[in-house]
Amino acid sequence: MIKYLGSKRALLPLLVGTVDALDGEAPVRTVADLFSGTARVGHALKGAGYRVRSNDHNAYAETLARCYVAADREAHAARAERMLRELAALPGRPGWFTATYAEQARYFSPENAARIEAMREQIERWAPGPELRAVLLTALVQAADRVDSTVGVQMAYLKKWAPRALRPIAPRLPELLPRARHGKGSAHGLDALDAARRLQADVVYLDPPYNQHSYLGNYHVWETLVRWDAPEVYGVACKRIDVQQRKSPFNSKVRIGEAFAALVAACRAERLVVSFSNEGALGYDALVQTLRGRGHVTVLSRGHERYIGHQIGVYNPQGERVGAPGRARNVEYVFVVTPEPFRGGEALLQAGLCDGVQQTLAGASDGR
Ligand SMILES: C[S@@+](CC[C@H](N)C(=O)[O-])C[C@H]1O[C@@H](n2cnc3c(N)ncnc32)[C@H](O)[C@@H]1O
Repeated sequence: MIKYLGSKRALLPLLVGTVDALDGEAPVRTVADLFSGTARVGHALKGAGYRVRSNDHNAYAETLARCYVAADREAHAARAERMLRELAALPGRPGWFTATYAEQARYFSPENAARIEAMREQIERWAPGPELRAVLLTALVQAADRVDSTVGVQMAYLKKWAPRALRPIAPRLPELLPRARHGKGSAHGLDALDAARRLQADVVYLDPPYNQHSYLGNYHVWETLVRWDAPEVYGVACKRIDVQQRKSPFNSKVRIGEAFAALVAACRAERLVVSFSNEGALGYDALVQTLRGRGHVTVLSRGHERYIGHQIGVYNPQGERVGAPGRARNVEYVFVVTPEPFRGGEALLQAGLCDGVQQTLAGASDGR
């Protein structure tokens, strides 16, 4: 999967464990992921048997989700593998993409950019159906990501070539999964609020951006590679001109509180799972305050490096607070919002999937 800010790779066992625990309390068949990014959360949930509805407003992310969540292995793997072999054998064909992203800016070596361009043109000529197209484009984006010359975001490129940029690009088949037990997944490219209103699910997962940096600005080359629209670009980083217009309220310190409250109120599921970090634009108390309007809130936390508990402290398996809170580094919170108190936190703690559980926050529904 691509290098991605805020990717939940390290949290996958906790997130899947949380949905499994919710399923143990009342059946879960469908999960909607409204900010899907790399689609790795949807992919893991699909692997666990859930029917996943993924959504992200950027075209590259919708494409990753169509590949990892909607496209089933039995329908596409064999054909995609043959097509990828053909793509990998094509000679480079430099054009506007190479001129922009390997000469004007230097995200890729000219040799790799010309091969990316040839492969992308061929996919356009083949005009495969949407899922096969998404599988091929995902293979291409991921192969390009493995030979890019950046520190992981496309705000800038390195002055000297990164060693990986000098290796030849090599697309390979993404890890497709068979159709999930609970049914076929889907991918959507809606604004999250719109998706919240439209996508019915047993559980909704929310992982909004944490800060002011726009994902479109950070990953504009993937957007262009997927859209293949030869956009007007600006600045040294050669960003697409529409980066200036396509904004998310979740990237604005001023607007995020209101946007989050509207989103939470609009979700069409009784149970919500929400990721947020202690370094985000919305504070812990504000998040809990908003989520309490939908039910009981259980907070699972997972710290990195020296973290030993900050806002909610460290709890032993009996739920007693132990030890003094330490200095916070990066803490990932997973808020679980349920109509009845969630009983699964202890088991997740004992399994080592999180290192803190706070379960005392009753929902507004019980009159507190
Ligand atoms: C923190 S990332 C999600 C990471 C993802 N869970 C993963 O593991 O890769 C937030 C995502 O929200 C998307 N996004 C931001 N604002 C949005 C909006 N208003 N509607 C839909 N998606 C949005 C961004 O494109 C980005 O992919």
